[in-house]
Amino acid sequence: MCGIVGYIGHRETAKVLIEGLKRLEYRGYDSAGIAIFHQGKVEIRRKEGKLSKLEELIGGETFDGKVGIGHTRWATHGRPSDENAHPHKAGRVAVVHNGIIENYLSLKEILKSKGHVFTSETDTEIISHLIDEFAQEGYSPLEAVRIALDQIKGSYALGILFEGDEECLIAARKESPLVIGLGDKEYFIASDVPPVLPYTRDFIFMDDGEVALLSSKGVKVFNTKGEEVSKEPKRVNWNSLMAEKGGYKHFMLKEIFEQPRAVIDTIRGRLSKEKGDAVLEGVRFAPTVLENMRRINLIACGTSYHAALVGKFLIEAFCRIPVDADIGSEFRYRNPIIGKNDLFVAISQSGETADTLAALREARRKGATTLAICNVVESSLAREADHVIYTHAGPEIGVASTKTFSTQLVILFLLALRMGRALGVLSCEGGKTLIEELVRIPHLMEEMLKTSSQVAKIARKYLQARDFLYLGRGINYPIALEGALKLKEISYVHAEGYPAGEMKHGPIALIDREMPVVVLATQNDVYEKVISNIEEVKAREGKIIALASTSDREIVQKVDDVIFIPETLPSLTPILLTIPLQLLAYYTADFKGTDVDQPRNLAKSVTVE
Ligand code: M6R
Repeated sequence: MCGIVGYIGHRETAKVLIEGLKRLEYRGYDSAGIAIFHQGKVEIRRKEGKLSKLEELIGGETFDGKVGIGHTRWATHGRPSDENAHPHKAGRVAVVHNGIIENYLSLKEILKSKGHVFTSETDTEIISHLIDEFAQEGYSPLEAVRIALDQIKGSYALGILFEGDEECLIAARKESPLVIGLGDKEYFIASDVPPVLPYTRDFIFMDDGEVALLSSKGVKVFNTKGEEVSKEPKRVNWNSLMAEKGGYKHFMLKEIFEQPRAVIDTIRGRLSKEKGDAVLEGVRFAPTVLENMRRINLIACGTSYHAALVGKFLIEAFCRIPVDADIGSEFRYRNPIIGKNDLFVAISQSGETADTLAALREARRKGATTLAICNVVESSLAREADHVIYTHAGPEIGVASTKTFSTQLVILFLLALRMGRALGVLSCEGGKTLIEELVRIPHLMEEMLKTSSQVAKIARKYLQARDFLYLGRGINYPIALEGALKLKEISYVHAEGYPAGEMKHGPIALIDREMPVVVLATQNDVYEKVISNIEEVKAREGKIIALASTSDREIVQKVDDVIFIPETLPSLTPILLTIPLQLLAYYTADFKGTDVDQPRNLAKSVTVE
């Protein structure tokens, strides 16, 4: 939640900050602001609403300073308003912040008693006052920041400026992501790499508790004890074009269409066709881990949780080990039974989702072996887990997850294959069959994308519907949940995903001639049962949009609309089913005129509990 940027260098600072914030707007878009030096003073411009409002406010104004910080907000403490927008400035100190300060109320009282006057409802404002308090006592900027941070409880990624010191941009990180971009005599800070990609691909990934001092001469990073540490820069293999729309109307549409490529990139180098096995470079379980493994926990939130539900089916089928799929925010609060013979797999696009991270920490504390499946390289989850597998989906900017979901499904398929082979449950021949089908998937995904105009027509036909029901069974049930989530989050139409067999226990009461029901009815061992569910909906005059196997021509008589899905293994069908559901949500939202890439109230990366 919230995105921060900072820059020190020779370019037009305001432009670098605004362009950077545009690439971070997916993290929050309630308000935005910048702090920038001009004629020796720190000038602040901030505005409620989207970044375009801030751009309007700045208009043609120019600033001569070579250092600045910027922020795009997703409100936690204090409603979206100009006053609550960052940066916050107290005395000489201007701050942008991503995270939550838990003890801000008690600190605020102490600071008030010392004469500090607050102008916002945010937790962030206390940071600027606290640092200024120590700066006024004569501490250097770096010391003032360190002492202030010692008193703060909570999470933060910070960018800090000191009026009177144009050679100083300070960054600090604890439990909120922050990267430092290393250019040629210019340096950047950002919550994520896309804002920095137009300038450099070399990054320092800050660790928790570290504070960095950026000046025109370079970057110094200090640990919690204040000792300078040497950090190895890492080269990121994403490029700046990957974070642009490339002619598509929305990032989401571009990312839907990128899926075949993303899957190819995710599979590349990870298949051993001769051995009928997967090669997962990030997973090197000690033999005893596999031998003793009794249970697997898959943990995630939102769309990634739906991938986890599919993963449960895949791993249980290929490995015959019991798997629990759980929601990150629920897991740790029930004192989960997990031990050193369990494998804990955390799935997250961003690798920064607070609930998923907290669950991982709980599992580690209890001694489980941990594995992260992430898209963002060097994210917190990736760094804290014992093992990591990356989805190679590239940057995903649309708030609604699309290509990262399909690549998560692919990674879970590969993980299930690898473990099934290692445990001897899957034979070499069995593994080869799975691989043969998997390599066909990108091509079949291309076929699915060709249904785009048909899906757009269906979206138009049901545009007035106020509710949708999505039904699936078995491994397709999580895809029903995902289809419903996509529709809800970007078009604001109410939608429910339900196991088709469970419909008769309640949701059937909702069905009438106004209610579109999307039924995932591909050929598998529960196909006949799904057809019975279709009959039940029909008998109540519900409208049925079926997703059915290409060979199933009979279904045309039974339903109102049908989208055909190429035949593949039932274990791979979820990847294909996902595409028309993403498109249905996309076109519904686009026709309704909602903000597809930045839906209301949402943020891409939920770094607060
Ligand atoms: O970065 P993560 O995969 O951990 O994010 C989890 C959810 O916040 C995310 O999937 C969210 O539900 C998306 N808006 C779904 O499109």
